[in-house]
Amino acid sequence: MKNKLALIGFGTVGKGLCEILKMKQAYLNKKYGFDYSIVAVADFAYGNVYNPDGLDIDQMMKEANAKKKFTKDLTNLDTVSLIKTCNADIVCELTYTDLTTGGAAIDHCKAALSTGKHIVTSNKGPAALFYPEMKKIADDHGVKFMIEGTVVAGTPIINLTDGPLAGCEISKIRGILNGTTNYMLTEMEKGMDYAEVLKIAQELGYAEADPTGDVEGYDARGKVTILANIVMGASIKISDVSCKGITKISKADIAAAKAKNARWKLIGSVEKKDGKVFGSVAPEMIDLSHPLAGVMGATNALTFTTDLMGDITIVGPGAGKIQTGFAILTDILAIHRSKKCC
Ligand SMILES: NC(=O)c1ccc[n+]([C@@H]2O[C@H](COP(=O)([O-])OP(=O)(O)OC[C@H]3O[C@@H](n4cnc5c(N)ncnc54)[C@H](OP(=O)(O)O)[C@@H]3O)[C@@H](O)[C@H]2O)c1
Repeated sequence: MKNKLALIGFGTVGKGLCEILKMKQAYLNKKYGFDYSIVAVADFAYGNVYNPDGLDIDQMMKEANAKKKFTKDLTNLDTVSLIKTCNADIVCELTYTDLTTGGAAIDHCKAALSTGKHIVTSNKGPAALFYPEMKKIADDHGVKFMIEGTVVAGTPIINLTDGPLAGCEISKIRGILNGTTNYMLTEMEKGMDYAEVLKIAQELGYAEADPTGDVEGYDARGKVTILANIVMGASIKISDVSCKGITKISKADIAAAKAKNARWKLIGSVEKKDGKVFGSVAPEMIDLSHPLAGVMGATNALTFTTDLMGDITIVGPGAGKIQTGFAILTDILAIHRSKKCC
């Protein structure tokens, strides 16, 4: 049976997912018996389209890559109505992250889950701000709220702790959760100061015109909240996570770390102490002997401290079109495989 997908947001991640689905169609079918059609797409830039028998994704990709609006299968339905009434069984929520209110993504997720459609998302807003509520609506309607792409793109984090590490109790998670700031700290070791490095990071597209979310640690704080609540079973709010960014790190600080055989990293941390879970984001001097110290550039990494396996560190990309598209694919495949085994 075909998996029918709706994509809400057709930007970097939405297009990345479409590229992977096309590139790996035969492989996914042979290996997992996976078949799909994309029946609905909603995007501010290109318009809302719907065809219950499947959209012409090749043409839509051409139009979107040429920055033109969609021309086929247009619908007058607004996005929430489209989500509610379309025949998709999996809705991929791929619009902007808003870590203050959650933005329109909250309505998108609720509309899908409450009409019995699975949600797969890389949008941190619904996961960091409203996970318990989303999970409850999903459970009440017999569907899943899947969020692998919200933390370190397709590098397996949520699914790792839920799958291969199930049975291990995790007491601590520490890691590099923001590629932009890790790139900046790496470049500062070459002798440039914070302002110079920020300018280069913006020119290269690592940092946004308004870099606040990355450099003040807010992006990492959203991910720490997700890890605390989903992996460690806490119920903390984003405002419970203490947060300090990298804006005050100076050339002198970089030199001081070097003199101590250490290096600065912006560390997101979740720790269980006396049954309570605490989250924090702050720059830390990491000894060069620690696996996190060797993680350079825009790469992300997390060390899990477990009871049965000791420390396990996973290193991988934390962003990118294909890397985040892959996160969405892994969750779609998990839903497909769970349908097959029931
Ligand atoms: N790119 C990555 O590497 C990466 C990695 C991890 C997580 N994420 C997360 O994944 C999500 C998607 O990222 P992205 O890089 O694909 O973003 P993007 O390239 O900016 O694409 C988002 C698309 O969604 C559209 N959109 C925004 N709000 C909408 C709404 N309410 N209804 C319909 N369309 C809407 C935007 O249209 P307009 O541009 O016209 O407004 C844009 O075309 C974000 O939440 C992001 O934080 C991304």
